[in-house]
Amino acid sequence: MSGIRIVGTGSAVPARMVSNSDLEKYVDTSDEWIYSRTGIKNRYFCEDEKLYELCARASKTAMERAGVDPSDIGICISATLSADYATPSNACMLQRELGLPTDIPAFDVNAACSGFIYSLHIASRFVDKERPYALVTGGEMLSRILDMEDRSTCVLFGDGAGAAVIKYDESAAFYGTMGSRGDNEALVCGGINTEDPHVRMKGQAIFRFAVKTIDENLTDILDHTGNTIDSVDYVVCHQANRRIISHVAHKRKAPEGKFFMDMDKYANTSAASIPLALDDMVNRGLLSFGKGQKVVALGFGGGLTYAGALLEF
Ligand code: ACO
Repeated sequence: MSGIRIVGTGSAVPARMVSNSDLEKYVDTSDEWIYSRTGIKNRYFCEDEKLYELCARASKTAMERAGVDPSDIGICISATLSADYATPSNACMLQRELGLPTDIPAFDVNAACSGFIYSLHIASRFVDKERPYALVTGGEMLSRILDMEDRSTCVLFGDGAGAAVIKYDESAAFYGTMGSRGDNEALVCGGINTEDPHVRMKGQAIFRFAVKTIDENLTDILDHTGNTIDSVDYVVCHQANRRIISHVAHKRKAPEGKFFMDMDKYANTSAASIPLALDDMVNRGLLSFGKGQKVVALGFGGGLTYAGALLEF
């Protein structure tokens, strides 16, 4: 598999922040119930923002940090299940907004919360010495498809976008896993053309799927790349729920902080959650570009899908 390095990240969220207490206006819930079961405190909900605008803002920061111009990008992939349009894709809208070249592929990937890692895998197969840079975004406007009368789902999700510029680099580590298991029972979102367009979920079934796949994929990635939990700098899981991540971290006897968590800020943003977390880590000074730090990123979600990758900064 081609080596790739993450050379720039960025993020953007809508202006409106919604706290757990704010949700008490819509459903019978409480900050205590939500925080103790999920680790979530706040999330952002869009008003009139467009998804492609958020992704464009995140991408501009990522390109600036990477020191690349739009003309340097050789492929644009956008992971999302909640794009503004069925067509044009979010990636095509980004191409227009950012002025990316027109002779490059630009398309969306729908693998729910695994979408960003799926997209990195695909991008890694396209970049080469001639066109070494790819722009990969993960972005969602999940508030558009939440049933604000269903307390078992509406408190869990949020909107946002994260972006990464990746660069072909033979010396960089990149190995990953991907898979899917067709299932429309545990997690389903009908979309706008169906009787029930909203997100519906069996929380405990997802919990079991998540802890199993995170653990198996982490083992696969560490074993295959000759790493241990101590030799990688961070593990960044899809930020669905603190209890899922703590469960795996505890089983691995991982030191405090090895498994990064920021669902308190953003809630579960599906395809955006991993790129938002990576950018959050850059902003907090935990990750720096060009330092060779290693991160295992692990996604799981609707599909059911899963994906993992050893990434180098
Ligand atoms: N506020 C207050 N009470 C609530 C809320 C709420 N927001 N939501 C549900 N409840 C109530 C239920 O009605 C139920 O009440 P009852 O016992 O009187 O019937 C009680 O709390 C327990 O409900 P459960 O659904 O069994 O809650 P559970 O303890 O399983 O917690 C949770 C739900 C947090 C979602 C849990 O199943 C979980 O951690 N799941 C992991 C999956 C996950 O986080 N999914 C997120 C998105 S999916 C993805 O990203 C791939």
